[in-house]
Amino acid sequence: MACAYSSILPKFDASLAKKHPMRRRLVAGNWKMNKGYREARALFDYLNDTARDMPAEVDVMIAPPALYLSSFAKESTKKIEVGAQDVSQRREAEGAYTGEISASILNSAGVHYAIVGHSERRSYHGEDDELIREKIRACIDAGLAPVYCCGEQLEDRDSDRHFDVVRKQLDTALKDFTALELQKLIVAYEPVWAIGTGKTASPGQAQEMHAYIRKVIGERFDTDFAAAVRILYGGSCKPGNAAEIFSGEDVDGGLIGGASLKGEDFVAIIKAGL
Ligand code: PGA
Repeated sequence: MACAYSSILPKFDASLAKKHPMRRRLVAGNWKMNKGYREARALFDYLNDTARDMPAEVDVMIAPPALYLSSFAKESTKKIEVGAQDVSQRREAEGAYTGEISASILNSAGVHYAIVGHSERRSYHGEDDELIREKIRACIDAGLAPVYCCGEQLEDRDSDRHFDVVRKQLDTALKDFTALELQKLIVAYEPVWAIGTGKTASPGQAQEMHAYIRKVIGERFDTDFAAAVRILYGGSCKPGNAAEIFSGEDVDGGLIGGASLKGEDFVAIIKAGL
C-alpha cells in the first residue's frame, strides 16, 4: 500500500530547494570504534590543518572514540567541534556507574554534542526510544546538543511502514519535552539499510523523509520550531553523492560514518554542504 503522505509531497526538484535561513548546515563525522591513537591524531591534525579551507557556512563536528575527546576538544580549531558517540542516560553529574560518561563530564571536557540512539547502539546494546529519551534529557540538563538518530529498517521500507516507524521513534523520544528545552536538538535520519552498506537513500527519499520528520516535529511542538531544527542525513554518504543529497530543502547536512575516516573524503563532503 503506498503511503498517503508520499503521494501529496511535491516531486523532488533540487533546483527549487531552498533552505530555511536560520538553519546552518552541519557535517558531522562519526568515527565509531576506529583509529588507534596515532591514526586518530593524524586525521585530527589533517582536519585542523585544512579547517581554513572549509566553507564558513558549514558547521563541522567529529565524534572520535571517547578516549580522545578531551584532548581533541582542547586542541581543535574553532571550526571543528567535538562530539561524543554516546552518553550515559544518568542525569546525575557523577555517581557509581562503572564505564559510563555523563553529559556533565563531557561538557566539562569541552564536548558540546552527543550522538544518541544510533542504530548500532539500538541493535547491539538494546537501546530503545524510552532510554534514548533519557539520554536526550541528560544532554539537555548538561547543555549538550543531542544528535538524535532515527530511521527505519529495510523491511519497514519494503512494507511501506517507514513513515510510521520514524513517527513512533520521534513521538517516544521527544515525549515530555518542550520546544524551549529542545533548542539544541539535531535530528539525524539514518535509514538502517543504508548505514555502512554502500546503499544510499535517493535524494528524493531523503528529502521526503526529512520533510516528514519536520512535519511530525511541527505537529508535536510548533512549525517555527520545526523549521529551525537541523535534520542531517546519514547512510553511505560520500563525496560523490553528498551534494545531491544535501540539496534537498529539508536536508541540513550529514552524519557521516565510513567516509569521515578519510580526511580528503570528509573535507570533500563538508565542501558539498555549501
Ligand atoms: P556510514 O555510517 O556513512 O558508514 O553509512 C553512517 C552512520 O552510521 O552514522
